Amino acid sequence: MLSRRALIAGAAAAGAAAAIAPAAKGRSTRPLAARGARIEKRTLYAGEMEVPLLGPGKPATKRFCAYNGTPLETWRFPKGTVLDVEFENRLPDSTTVHWHGVRVDNRFDGVPPLTQQVVPPGEKFHYEVPLADPGLYFFHPHCDESGQVGRGLAALLIVDDEPGSAPAFDLEQVIVVKDWRLGEDGQWLAMTTDDGASTAGTFGTVRATNASVAPARVEAPAHGDVRLRAIVADNTRVIDFGCDAKDSALIACDGHAIEPVHFDALPDAVWRMGPAMRADVHVRMPGPGEEVKVYDYRSAEPFLLMTLVAVDKGKPKLPFRPLALPPPDLPQADVRRARKLDFTIQTAAGATILAPPLPDGDPLAKALVNSFCVGGKTFWAINRTSWAAGPDLRLPPPLNVLDDGASYVLSISNVTKHVHPMHLHGHVFKVLSSTKKPNLPQVLADTMVVEPNETLDVAFKATRGDWVFHCHILEHMDSGMMGWFKIA
Ligand code: C2O
Ligand code: CU
Repeated sequence: MLSRRALIAGAAAAGAAAAIAPAAKGRSTRPLAARGARIEKRTLYAGEMEVPLLGPGKPATKRFCAYNGTPLETWRFPKGTVLDVEFENRLPDSTTVHWHGVRVDNRFDGVPPLTQQVVPPGEKFHYEVPLADPGLYFFHPHCDESGQVGRGLAALLIVDDEPGSAPAFDLEQVIVVKDWRLGEDGQWLAMTTDDGASTAGTFGTVRATNASVAPARVEAPAHGDVRLRAIVADNTRVIDFGCDAKDSALIACDGHAIEPVHFDALPDAVWRMGPAMRADVHVRMPGPGEEVKVYDYRSAEPFLLMTLVAVDKGKPKLPFRPLALPPPDLPQADVRRARKLDFTIQTAAGATILAPPLPDGDPLAKALVNSFCVGGKTFWAINRTSWAAGPDLRLPPPLNVLDDGASYVLSISNVTKHVHPMHLHGHVFKVLSSTKKPNLPQVLADTMVVEPNETLDVAFKATRGDWVFHCHILEHMDSGMMGWFKIA
């Protein structure tokens, strides 16, 4: 075992990482071209920049984190593309890239120290990202997530259906929900607090939509069909997504098409979305001059995300029929044969805490974040085990060892007082049932909220690899609410 001093010394820390993590090769054994894929080579860097987040006339925010120098940039490719990404870390801290929701090979999943080592400042890592499934995704670091994602580090990834296979909408509009945690001077406040991390999370101080503090007004054809693609990219915030149009329908979750569900038929007539969740929504526009307001209904007062303004383009008024997207082509769980696995998500009290919490300002805490991407404190657990934290730096044992190709039902019980959006890497699961929401549709997803006192059952077909399962409220994952499956 490592001494504290050796760890803080950094060089030793790298050696320790090597002992528990696979080598940072990131090279595939077979060349991409051999697989007949449409390959797109891209360079990607993470770096810091200055951005006027508070709007004109206000001080610009320093040390905003962005990919390729563009806040919240969007990558868009046709289905079937394989991204060949040369990533470079130009941040002053270690990082990795995680392709959230994309079914990548395990060694490109970006989770240190499980699937790769961290990428230290100035170094590179190669990722291969096959875009097999259409939909809205995003990518973000899997290292000091609260700090780096909190300061902006995330980008959208849209994978398009084959041309002509998806219904035509009159307008497509992306909505990114992401707040900023800034002081009056426009500079970052600490992204994590003990009070927040141990409760619902630390919220931003300024709400923003599509990186703007003023909600946008967007014109759309009267009586036309709008496709909203919404994503919560915030560290913390859970929203109740919806709009005041008479007719709107949920048509995809986390990018994956579902049988459309009219919003009136959803639990509470909204779609509850925690961090990392995405939703595609078909909105039918009203007549000329009227407006549709898109809201987060979870706040005491509905919070306006965007206004759609109906302009006359000569479109006739037709009865509303939700437009279904092409059905997804995903590995299907065999629910009847699936083995059931029970998980309790809970506070760390009584959990196997692998190490005692570190005091604030302890240099070891900083070394841990930098070299191992874990936090110094433990507040949460899954089945009485918390993710590695503290000086012994050992990963917890896997939650379960699963068989490649076999089907499983995860039965997730939330015994805490807070909502937890639970995310499984490397897989798309099917929501089967909730003990609290009888009308919850059986959506396909990679992240799903579990309410207090709710048990949620989801099914998936296991794919080889070491895959983490965690809460996507980033402070919760950073403080213990993460485990992993070994699938072999
Ligand atoms: Cu969005 Cu573990 O990730
Ligand atoms: Cu949580």
